[in-house]
Amino acid sequence: MCGIVGFVGDKNAVEPVLCGLRNLEYRGYDSAGVAFYDGSKIRNVKQAGRVAALENELVDLDIINTKTAIGHTRWATHGTPTKLNAHPHYNKDKTIFVVHNGIIENHQELRSMLEAKGYHFVSHTDTEVVPHLIDFYYQKTKDMEQAFTSAINDLSGAYAIVMMSEIEPNKILAAKLSSPLAIGVGKKNNMVGSDASAVADAAKKIVYLEDYEIAIVEKNKYKIRNLKNKKIVTRNPEDLLLEDVRSSKGSFEHFMLKEIHEAPKTIQNAILGRIKIETNEIKLGGLDSVANQLRNIDRIIIVSCGTSYIAGLVGEYLIEELAEVPVEVQLASEFKYRKEPYSPNTAILAISQSGETADTIAALKKIEPQGLLTLGIVNSPGSTISRMTKAGIYCHAGPEISVASTKAFTAQVTILVLLALSLGKNRSKLYKDLLVELASLPKTAEKILSLSPAIKEIAIRYSHHRDFMFIGRGYEYPVALEGSLKLKEISYIHAEAYAGGELKHGPLALIDENFPTLALASSPTLFDKTASNIQEIKARGGKTIVVTTKKQQKHFKTIADDLIIIPEVSDQLSPILEAIVVQLFSYFIAAEKGCDIDKPRNLAKSVTVE
Ligand code: AGP
Ligand code: GLU
Repeated sequence: MCGIVGFVGDKNAVEPVLCGLRNLEYRGYDSAGVAFYDGSKIRNVKQAGRVAALENELVDLDIINTKTAIGHTRWATHGTPTKLNAHPHYNKDKTIFVVHNGIIENHQELRSMLEAKGYHFVSHTDTEVVPHLIDFYYQKTKDMEQAFTSAINDLSGAYAIVMMSEIEPNKILAAKLSSPLAIGVGKKNNMVGSDASAVADAAKKIVYLEDYEIAIVEKNKYKIRNLKNKKIVTRNPEDLLLEDVRSSKGSFEHFMLKEIHEAPKTIQNAILGRIKIETNEIKLGGLDSVANQLRNIDRIIIVSCGTSYIAGLVGEYLIEELAEVPVEVQLASEFKYRKEPYSPNTAILAISQSGETADTIAALKKIEPQGLLTLGIVNSPGSTISRMTKAGIYCHAGPEISVASTKAFTAQVTILVLLALSLGKNRSKLYKDLLVELASLPKTAEKILSLSPAIKEIAIRYSHHRDFMFIGRGYEYPVALEGSLKLKEISYIHAEAYAGGELKHGPLALIDENFPTLALASSPTLFDKTASNIQEIKARGGKTIVVTTKKQQKHFKTIADDLIIIPEVSDQLSPILEAIVVQLFSYFIAAEKGCDIDKPRNLAKSVTVE
């Protein structure tokens, strides 16, 4: 997803905008640009590259006296990532400049209408219709707020839009629909931005915009209007918690490795204040308001994407076994095409690290008319999904900077264990033992991290391969999927993942000496079936790396090529520990290949387009 930043104040507007863009780089982008009012006109600088390249070009310009500026990091949806297509986009007279996050779905129709009226386009983006449309309405009304409102009302799709103009150079106008946008309230200035980190440099408080709202932001005041009822919205600003937005790699080479090593703290933070061993209690305060409804739930549909979808698959096994509630996990991007009947006691659970994933938001929007109970497991406080769902549980994992999700998965699965145990408190005989084991899991995770040198040595030996297979059964099958996704997205190696029992139904045809397999095999109840998988692979010349425990290793010692021995763990908690193994394995292969691990090509941290 791209990033948006705007500043209006007394001086040097460009610096806080650049700082905000740097804080948003973690989201992944392909180009960047800024526009600023220099006292007589608006100037802009754009680059098909990093924010740092922008800064180099700005060095020679007088930006100290600028009072208003906007900036953007783009993740291209319409038009290739070129300097021409980078934002801000502007009208012919260069008096109106706009940055945009999302997709204008009716851009072609608007472009044709404007071209018929003599407007000329220079880029291939959907966004460029916006400044021309504002100009079109301004020529008619000579009122900038009204022109902005009329233009926004003509748009359909998803957007966070920020505009500045030479006509009213001390104002920034903003509009939000689906894509996130907030106002950063400072002492002598105000900002707008995609999230807290965008405005943290100069804001003390934050106000999140809701869908169908526009904001008129000046240096010492702001106004929010609802486009539907045209009324002014009063919304008190929240404290902006700086610790939520400041992140640094510390001694780690990549954010991804730092975030993998946060696993013990992540598990600790996910259970903190939520379990009481002495009284055998689980307290999920975020669900208190819907406790009665939860008691009557007879089905849960989990909607999510990517790694969060895989966490949902673990949740399916957990909730069905520990709470005896039927669960179905659906890709949020496919959920909207289903024509399925829902019983009134169905709950929809959205899992999302960013809380801004467009597909997951679309899924929640689809079922809004059904009035079903909606729950969220979200990492980003104040995010769209956390505000769309009726109740939920925050991950408390802190900002996840690397595009490849690691600690969020750890937190999500830990919370799914708590949710499953809490829903099934009086039904599951595993309740007490799992609660005790969960409380000591941070220490067990430390032991997994101490295996890094052994995992690294194996990963490097296999890093030349161009294809990989991951297999697992039961709770370990989702971990195979997660290992495959991690390896794909950070090393660009082709990786497949299958349930172990499925291998012989076709994928085995892929196996030869150039197509190694990593098998998850720590379960004491499934080792024999997985041992058969290993034999099948070995018989075809395939190499195998088996992740198992000290007790189970005797079943694999003579048949596997490499073993990674992890501490004994219950099946229900094994995905949390084994995920750390496959995250490290993928990381060390990608590092050996010299990949851009935190910002893989083509990917964004938060995918706010469908
Ligand atoms: C995971 O490593 C990927 N970066 C991606 O699949 C991600 O999990 C997916 O886009 C969902 O994001 P969310 O959790 O923020 O909704
Ligand atoms: N759809 C717009 C474009 O392609 C904005 C993409 C984004 O969100 O960065 O320029």
